[in-house]
Amino acid sequence: MIVTIRKYESETDNGLLEFHENTTNIRIGSTTMVALFGKDEFCRVFSPDGIWLAHDGKGIAGAILFSINNKIKPACTTIYALSVDEKYRRRGIGGALMYKAEIFTRNNGFNRLILNTQPDNAAALTLFKKCWYSVTATSQNALTMEKTLRNFR
Ligand SMILES: CC(C)(COP(=O)(O)OP(=O)(O)OC[C@H]1O[C@@H](n2cnc3c(N)ncnc32)[C@H](O)[C@@H]1OP(=O)(O)O)[C@@H](O)C(=O)NCCC(=O)NCCS
Repeated sequence: MIVTIRKYESETDNGLLEFHENTTNIRIGSTTMVALFGKDEFCRVFSPDGIWLAHDGKGIAGAILFSINNKIKPACTTIYALSVDEKYRRRGIGGALMYKAEIFTRNNGFNRLILNTQPDNAAALTLFKKCWYSVTATSQNALTMEKTLRNFR
């Protein structure tokens, strides 16, 4: 199986997104995730380079959504959603999508990435730790994890 990672194309990939009154969701296979709260903000947050898809030639295997977050000081990349279709899991696609977020971060002149996940999401936690993310804040239902890129110029 050859998987390529490419940018989301609004004309052809629009079916992956579900716009609701208070959320925008992304559907990858049988998994639907909240990508963002509020539809209007969606285009602003993720345009133009913030949605990337893993594709195996037949269909979408996974997706990652991220953007530069200027509300956090110093500014960094926030990863809003990461999802891999169940039938494609444990083949390195999640890790490859995470790496895309790092390239994006470096290309934009930043060196830090941040994300939130649930403390009981063993798959995500293991993946993020394997990608060298550390827990920087905890609450009852969420963990904040961060990574600082090395050799940053
Ligand atoms: C989390 C998720 C994105 C991982 O995607 P993936 O493509 O399976 O991840 P990878 O194949 O790149 O996994 C890399 C490593 O992460 C760890 N990992 C991934 N899934 C795991 C699982 N279910 N249990 C334990 N470790 C897991 C392993 O160390 C794995 O390496 P290995 O397969 O060589 O052992 C996927 O399980 C998913 O979409 N889950 C539902 C949505 C979700 O929870 N998203 C994250 C929200 S913050």
